[in-house]
Amino acid sequence: MSGKVARAAQRVGTPVGDFSCTSDTTPMNPPESHTPQQPPACPPPQAGEGKELAFPQGRKGEEPPAGDGDTQKFGVYIHWPFCLSKCPYCDFNSHVRHAAIDEARFARAFAAEIATTAARVPGRSVSTIFFGGGTPSLMQPATVGAILDAVARHWTVASDAEVTLEANPTSVEATRFRGYRAAGVNRVSLGVQALDDGALRALGRTHTAQEALAAVAIARQVFERYSFDLIYARPGQTSAAWAAELKRAIGEAAEHLSLYQLTIEQDTPFHTLYQAGKLVVPDDDTARALYDITQEITAAAGLPAYEVSNHARAGAECRHNLVYWRGQEYAGIGPGAHGRLDIVGERRATATEKRPEAWLMRVESLGHGVTTDEALTREERADEFLLMGLRLTEGIAPARFAELAGRPLQERRVTILREEGAVELTPDGRLRVTRAGFPVLDAVVADLAA
Ligand SMILES: C[S@@+](CC[C@H](N)C(=O)[O-])C[C@H]1O[C@@H](n2cnc3c(N)ncnc32)[C@H](O)[C@@H]1O
Ligand code: SF4
Repeated sequence: MSGKVARAAQRVGTPVGDFSCTSDTTPMNPPESHTPQQPPACPPPQAGEGKELAFPQGRKGEEPPAGDGDTQKFGVYIHWPFCLSKCPYCDFNSHVRHAAIDEARFARAFAAEIATTAARVPGRSVSTIFFGGGTPSLMQPATVGAILDAVARHWTVASDAEVTLEANPTSVEATRFRGYRAAGVNRVSLGVQALDDGALRALGRTHTAQEALAAVAIARQVFERYSFDLIYARPGQTSAAWAAELKRAIGEAAEHLSLYQLTIEQDTPFHTLYQAGKLVVPDDDTARALYDITQEITAAAGLPAYEVSNHARAGAECRHNLVYWRGQEYAGIGPGAHGRLDIVGERRATATEKRPEAWLMRVESLGHGVTTDEALTREERADEFLLMGLRLTEGIAPARFAELAGRPLQERRVTILREEGAVELTPDGRLRVTRAGFPVLDAVVADLAA
């Protein structure tokens, strides 16, 4: 698999970090899927850094190519790169600033980058918009509204578009929920992380469990749809404690939950502590038991996994993240955001400058913050399709892989993986990873892509 594609697949939710989340390849720690903020491993500045890119542009009326799903979707990812403090486990593109952020100036830059991107891929109908971070719930509702207005000025926004905003569950942020609703947000994703105050302190979070539950209650009143995130496989966490916490969380959830195994990311304070032996995470057997319990409890409660780390009632999946996992088209707007744009028959992988102020200045002088803009080769595109699509329990259409790669999947490898019980074919001919295969998903994908 090409390094370019492997990097891009790291994290989701996010296109800051494109997706999905983890570069960890240990069997007990399946890849996660946060947001497309550009993932942890943001591409380094390219050789052309500082020069204006000669963008290939799409023609008006040009049809976007078909994706793997029912109809072609187009998502817009917006990255807000600021947080009040940096959590010691987090390697998202998030920054702490002690001076006030000039939101009006950032809003103008977001609008400019949206205009430039829309000129490259005109005529799209936007099916989903996702504000990821960082902490988008630090934005004033007026800033969110201005960005949504810019999206609607340059593309058509579908009348049933899903518009999600990631929020930290503090009482201050919950007071903005009605403002976001009025601005056009119709779904929130809350970073609850744990329902135990000791665990929240250990994760460096500034909220308590009670405060998080109060924010969930406000989200329930204000939005038609909400989800929240929990991190498990935390230091010292037992199966019994996680089972109890998860059941309590399900009691508070409506239709969707994101459940991430703690990943020790390079260059984070947790990594330093881990290396020094001062942070001990559950061993592989315990992590596997925690993963199995997670699958059993959520399935029994009607919230089965539809992706490695995401659980929903049927029909309540995060439609924005499905755009990434199904290999459809999306624009990445804001510092460190990644995009996949279909232009004159090519799939182009884009990434913007990660540093917020450098991105701002770049947009103010060039109209965009793009530092990477490359056409994916057939092989890269097909690898990415496998890497993303096999995260979903619905799996992939082998015919679509063949169309992208220009060759079918290697039958011998599929047969071996089927015999090992890692993958299966559905009655309608899709290839999907089994429950036993998910903990070793990275290895399965590497085998099929090789
Ligand atoms: C962009 S982050 C969070 C949004 C928001 N700022 C917050 O913290 O609530 C998206 C999610 O990724 C998950 N996450 C981040 N780093 C992680 C890690 N190292 N291991 C597991 N999950 C992680 C957290 O659950 C977090 O809510
Ligand atoms: S608040 Fe969210 S994005 Fe910010 S550092 Fe913590 S986990 Fe990362």
